[in-house]
Amino acid sequence: MKKEDPILILGAGTFGLSTAYHFAKAGFSNITVLEKSTAVPPVDSAGNDLNKIIRAEYEDPFYAELALQAIEAWKTPLFAPYYHETGYLLANSRAAPEKAKKTLLKSLGSIQQHPAFRGKISPIEKREDVTKVAPVFDGPMEWKGYFNRFAGYAHAADALTAVYSACCALGVKFCVGDAVASLTYSATRDRCTGAATASGKTYTASVTVLALGAALATVLPDVGKQVAANAWPVAHIQLTPAEAQKLHGIPVTYARDLGFFFEPDRRTNLLKLCPSGAGYTNFSSSGGGASVPPDFNGFITPADEDKIRRLLRETLPGLAERPLVNKHMCWCADTADSEYIIDFVPGKHGLIVASGDSGHAFKMLPIAGKWIVELAQAGQQEKRRWRWKPNQDAGGDVSWRVGRPVDLKDVPLAVRSKL
Ligand SMILES: Cc1cc2nc3c(=O)[nH]c(=O)nc-3n(C[C@H](O)[C@H](O)[C@H](O)COP(=O)(O)OP(=O)(O)OC[C@H]3O[C@@H](n4cnc5c(N)ncnc54)[C@H](O)[C@@H]3O)c2cc1C
Ligand SMILES: *[C@@H]1O[C@H](CO)[C@@H](O)[C@H](O)[C@H]1NC(C)=O
Ligand SMILES: *[C@@H]1O[C@H](CO)[C@@H](O)[C@H](O)[C@H]1NC(C)=O
Repeated sequence: MKKEDPILILGAGTFGLSTAYHFAKAGFSNITVLEKSTAVPPVDSAGNDLNKIIRAEYEDPFYAELALQAIEAWKTPLFAPYYHETGYLLANSRAAPEKAKKTLLKSLGSIQQHPAFRGKISPIEKREDVTKVAPVFDGPMEWKGYFNRFAGYAHAADALTAVYSACCALGVKFCVGDAVASLTYSATRDRCTGAATASGKTYTASVTVLALGAALATVLPDVGKQVAANAWPVAHIQLTPAEAQKLHGIPVTYARDLGFFFEPDRRTNLLKLCPSGAGYTNFSSSGGGASVPPDFNGFITPADEDKIRRLLRETLPGLAERPLVNKHMCWCADTADSEYIIDFVPGKHGLIVASGDSGHAFKMLPIAGKWIVELAQAGQQEKRRWRWKPNQDAGGDVSWRVGRPVDLKDVPLAVRSKL
């Protein structure tokens, strides 16, 4: 590739921004990003959120190593202001299903052996073990798990903004508020030449990167069943400054069977909470077709609200009955094996997919774009696990998951529509 080659990136979310940044840093001079939302960070980006967990425990050592590299990068000047190493408390409540308890022990086993975590892990076996690391928690917390000091969270929206600003400073062009409607191809249809937008503008490029997250199938139907849009619910409690002050410095706290929360946002005093579960899909009711995000996402289900309140009764019972605000569904692109898909689309020269985040890609923001630049330059994906896998079905039974996703057609209309 030549540094003057036009590069087109579709989507300005986590993968899109990281890709633009790494192309620009590598010296590419003609980079354009197209984003359907009207601003960056985009409202529809899964990464546009108060905070995200940054941790390196993965059962699979391949991702554990990448996450360790990412944590190192989170400590470099561009990213460090947004990374907070508050520690990570991971446990199961007494009521957790056996499967959740086993998974946690496996995850603990994997990091206990790893030199990077030496002296950073302590077991959680009784209530006092929890209050030692989070003295303000005053719930019953009969939990079993561990506390990992070598982890924390990132202020996600601010980190995306920082990468966006860095891209602008490096000359990347952003065109927002105009959705990509289709890809364009050479007359022989074996080369992607760019994209066309809903307003009718066309952009030409020698390399086009699809970083559309959960919406990938709306622009590239050929992706088939490899990815399925899957949503996780998010809600917040508006704390007073004094309440927020008391919770400053708490670790990211994750009761695997109930959900997780973070220290309150220092600017808004919002406490973000996510209930755990297998998430939600939106397969078309006519059968076949892909799961894609719906237009309206400003809701969560009563069952998820209930889970959030149970999580609070365990940890901070004084907040358990408070109103939940800024409720929404956050859409990711799941694959059957939770592997990312970072590969050329077969039979279409110049077209790269960066998707299949499977709900675990935000932590990679500082480094993910490098993988795409390397792929574009190498011309083919050497890592088998990240290849295009047309025969996989992300809507099938995912063996390790506790529970099955609920499809939106089974959620009452009164819950999931703007009434
Ligand atoms: C509730 C929740 C909690 C999470 N917690 C964590 C965590 O703790 N740690 C972690 O590592 N990860 C976490 N994740 C996952 C992480 O957010 C995602 O893996 C990551 O953001 C995916 O990045 P992406 O670039 O693939 O998609 P996105 O960031 O969603 O970007 C896709 C972009 O494409 C744009 N787009 C869509 N269609 C079009 C179109 N037609 N034309 C132009 N633009 C378009 C969208 O507007 C969006 O900006 C969480 C996700 C959720 C939902
Ligand atoms: C960037 O690429 C586009 C598409 O080929 C081209 O029209 C434009 O002139 C290029 N810009 C520069 C500065 O080279
Ligand atoms: C689900 O997806 C379809 C497209 O397949 C879309 O028309 C619909 O609005 C989406 N949302 C819901 C809640 O069904």
